[in-house]
This record gives sequence, C-alpha cells and structure tokens, in this order.
Amino acid sequence: MNYLKLLLILMTTFVLSVGASEAKKAIEKRIAPVGSVCVKGEECGSPVLEAPTSPESRTGESVYSNACATCHSIGLAGAPKFADVASWGERTDKGIEALTASVKDGLNGMPPTGMCMDCSDDELKAAVQFMLDSI
Ligand code: HEC
Repeated sequence: MNYLKLLLILMTTFVLSVGASEAKKAIEKRIAPVGSVCVKGEECGSPVLEAPTSPESRTGESVYSNACATCHSIGLAGAPKFADVASWGERTDKGIEALTASVKDGLNGMPPTGMCMDCSDDELKAAVQFMLDSI
C-alpha cells in the first residue's frame, strides 16, 4: 500500500515537472527575440544585403518610349502627336510646367502620370521636354 502511494506521488511529481518544463519552453519560445541586428562589417553567418541604391533617373526619351509613345506616337484618343506641330496647336503655349502638371494629374484620355506609375516629377518633365523638342 505504501509502495503504491509512493509510486503515485512519484508519478504525479514527474508529470507536474514535465508539464512545467514544457510550459517554460513555450514561454521561452514566446518571448524569444524576433530577430537580431547584424551590423555591416560584423560576422553574422549570412551575407549582409546592401541597401538598394536609388536607380538613376531615366531620360525623357526612355520614359517617352516606354510609357507615352503608346498614345503619342499615333495620336490615340486625340493625344497630340510626337513630332507633329499641328496636333499640338496652342498647347505648347502653356509652358513646360503646366504641361507636366497635366501629365501628372491626367487630362481627359490621358491617365495620371501618363501611365508611368513609377516616374518622378522630373522624369515626367523630361519626357514632356523630349516631346516638345520633337516639334
Ligand atoms: C493612354 C494614352 C496616353 C498616354 C500613355 C500618355 N498620354 Fe499624354 N495625352 C493623351 C491624350 C488623349 C491627351 C490629350 C488630352 C486632352 O487635351 O484632351 C494627352 C495630352 C498630353 C499633353 C498635353 C497636355 C496639355 O495640358 O495640353 C502632354 C504634355 C502629354 N500628354 C504628355 C505625356 C507624357 C509625357 C506621357 C508619358 C509619361 C503621356 N503623355 C502619356 C494620352 C496619353
């Protein structure tokens, strides 16, 4: 009888201690740091990624041929045509700033940014200038 009691106590202690250590592991896992900082020049086991450098700004010509030419080479939806003075009419009188603003905000058939979603203001302006230089 006493043996049985002792066995029961031992088993209970064992179960409790296993449970406690499992709980401890779970807590440690939960409070473990999410990541660690690896400073450039330090040995961290894996290669350090260089921060991407900002891409060179594109020329007016490359922006024009990638985004604007779709409409402006053929005058789609009434777009003033590249190298065609007549189709530009009075528009050129607005000046580069106002024309660039039209491109940025969109104008009737022309969607905002002239479909160059990742173009900076300067790149849009360069594209407008490239178009103006053609007429
Ligand atoms: C989906 C066709 C389309 C694309 C792409 C497009 N345009 Fe246009 N664009 C037009 C149309 C249509 C007009 C004439 C809008 C109007 O006056 O009704 C226009 C007008 C313009 C004007 C004259 C704005 C004014 O104020 O009179 C400029 C400058 C211009 N586009 C530059 C650009 C540039 C630069 C790009 C590329 C970054 C571009 N467009 C891309 C369709 C397009």
